Amino acid sequence: MIVTRAVFRDFRNVEEETIEFSPTVNVLWGMNAQGKSNILEGIYLFARGRSFRGAHDRDMIRQDASASGLGVSVEREGEKYPVELIAELSREGKKRLLRNGAPLSSVSEMIGNLRAVLFCPAHLSVVNGGPAERRSFLDVAISQLDPGYIRDLSLYRAAYSHRAALLRRFSSGAEVRTEEWEVFSEQMSDAASRIAAARFEYVKKLSLHVASFFEEMTGGAESPSVSYKSHLLGGVEDGYDPAEGKKILFDKLTSNIEREAAAGSTLWGTHKDDIRLALDGSDARLFASQGQQRSFALALKLSEGEISREKSGEYPVFLLDDVFSELDANRRKYITDRLLGRQIIVTSCEPSVIPGGEGAARFIEIKNGSVAGVR
Ligand SMILES: Nc1ncnc2c1ncn2[C@@H]1O[C@H](COP(=O)(O)OP(=O)(O)OP(=O)(O)O)[C@@H](O)[C@H]1O
Ligand SMILES: [Mg+2]
Repeated sequence: MIVTRAVFRDFRNVEEETIEFSPTVNVLWGMNAQGKSNILEGIYLFARGRSFRGAHDRDMIRQDASASGLGVSVEREGEKYPVELIAELSREGKKRLLRNGAPLSSVSEMIGNLRAVLFCPAHLSVVNGGPAERRSFLDVAISQLDPGYIRDLSLYRAAYSHRAALLRRFSSGAEVRTEEWEVFSEQMSDAASRIAAARFEYVKKLSLHVASFFEEMTGGAESPSVSYKSHLLGGVEDGYDPAEGKKILFDKLTSNIEREAAAGSTLWGTHKDDIRLALDGSDARLFASQGQQRSFALALKLSEGEISREKSGEYPVFLLDDVFSELDANRRKYITDRLLGRQIIVTSCEPSVIPGGEGAARFIEIKNGSVAGVR
């Protein structure tokens, strides 16, 4: 899958611009603060449904403008016509999304049309940050492959917040009917069991790919392991049984209302789960060096691309924001070799990040929110 063109209107510091991409390597280069990352953010918006920098939609509208429009053309192998995706952001909030001219009713309908793997320096937090960062990595990756997963996440969130509201009522002394409590606990554990099962399966695949990327990168010197860690069940290594997972969570959720009220929060569920990342048996978050953590994060992202291809038959688009500046020449070469034949769009201050010079990539110079030149 490749992005052949992206169009921006009043998006961040881009007033109006159309960028054509090569199916292989593209380098968006230019000085700091010119709009390189903004362009990746705009493209990735279609893959993830929102900003990868955690910005609100309205923050992405160009200052002084009242609305913003973005579009991408996505070509898929074996398909004659590209998919045209459009997003319109307004200050009032709701975004309008279109696929080939037809309005989409929700963000989740759009996700999956453009599959992309984004990698930026902040993603080191997948390794050295808290569990929420790792859950978000899983959720974003699985969502692009499985619309059912997006549905389960929103069912879970809805049941969670209904139940949290009941909990607050209970805490303030109001009466909460057992049936009501059970209904939302049931909905929560039902969705949770499917979420955990999907995450478990995904993590199992991740662990195989991460191991082989590490093997390649380090010549077998370091041995990583990746496994799903359920807050309730502990490490899930061999298999996850959704029926059993559901029952155990439901029992917890229905027999501890006083404890949860005292804590003032929902104590069990998939919103507490994590991935355990270890290097040579030790927690990578606590024991790995900076360089090893970076390699781990990289291996996770490359693996995400592999799983995406296994599932859909096509590689996703790789968006690399400012990662090369942090990597030594060997690792840079490793990535460019490893991603050979896939579409990558990388940002950098220097065009020379890609070895080989002219002809090795499409070099797109970005200046003040516009394309200043293409080579
Ligand atoms: N909503 C907005 N309206 C107008 N300009 C914006 C908006 N949001 C961000 N900007 C501007 O965009 C610029 C940053 O762009 P971006 O992050 O893409 O830079 P960059 O080219 O990736 O730079 P670096 O090399 O430092 O990463 C900033 O100067 C910022 O002021
Ligand atoms: Mg940037």
